[in-house]
Amino acid sequence: MKRIQTIAEMKAICRQLTRRGKTLGFVPTMGALHEGHLSLVRASKSRCHATAVSIFVNPLQFGPAEDLSKYPRTLERDAGLLEDVGVDLLFVPTVDEMYPAGAKTYVQVEGLSGKLDGASRPGHFQGVATVVTKLFEIVRPDCAFFGQKDAVQVTVLRKLGSDLDMDVEIVVCPIVRERDGLAMSSRNVYLTPEQRQQALVLHRALMRLQISADQGESDAAKLSEIGQQVIAEEPGARLDYFAIVDPETLDPVVDVAPGALVAVAAYFGATRLIDNILITS
Ligand code: PAJ
Repeated sequence: MKRIQTIAEMKAICRQLTRRGKTLGFVPTMGALHEGHLSLVRASKSRCHATAVSIFVNPLQFGPAEDLSKYPRTLERDAGLLEDVGVDLLFVPTVDEMYPAGAKTYVQVEGLSGKLDGASRPGHFQGVATVVTKLFEIVRPDCAFFGQKDAVQVTVLRKLGSDLDMDVEIVVCPIVRERDGLAMSSRNVYLTPEQRQQALVLHRALMRLQISADQGESDAAKLSEIGQQVIAEEPGARLDYFAIVDPETLDPVVDVAPGALVAVAAYFGATRLIDNILITS
């Protein structure tokens, strides 16, 4: 695995690969890697000749009161995991390399960026869209792999790719969970053992709602009530949002059909966690 820090070198190596006729898969991350990230790498390896991963804790997507400075940074461990799964290129730019003084261009997916997580985290998706646009231009991958875990991010990035006619296939991979149902997240390390237990309520609420949908309930207001009731029973959870939406527009649905996105965000102490399901029946 080759580790690269500069944009110039990353571009040169990626261009060389694709000129030789190799397909290139790309997995952008912020590091503190877990099985969720590694599942994206494996998906890339199964589809593309070569796989590039980036690790960059992107300051643009963190709000002023958020966890940028304490975000877990475990580069050597991450590099070992990526080497073991057979990644070809690891891109680890510095903040100055990605955002030199005087940079003035931001990418904004209007409308979508202000919904759900975007409403709770103003500026977040502009930061995500800007860094992903830059990374795509540096790597120019054939396919880029993202997790369904960040469902709103997926919606925003799909729209970004299609609006800007980007020549990259966005591949979305399923949520990887701990054995007890908690969605894997780099932020789970912030949880105390008690909060870790409380956080299971997110998956429980989503499962309860899916069961009601399986039993024939399709009224979004009723299903939402069922899910929120489960969360209300956990005093350690402070709900941010609970929404049933169309995954393309992020607008609320009235009648829940297969494919509807049920997304939830809640705080456990100071830690904000998200989870979601796509309704299957
Ligand atoms: P990060 O949170 O590191 O996540 C990198 C990728 O891993 C994202 O596509 C995310 O959805 C996916 N992922 C995280 N947890 C997952 C899980 N439990 N199962 C499946 N996939 C999971 O998302 C970001 O970084 C950043 O916003 C980024 C896209 C890199 C831009 O800075």
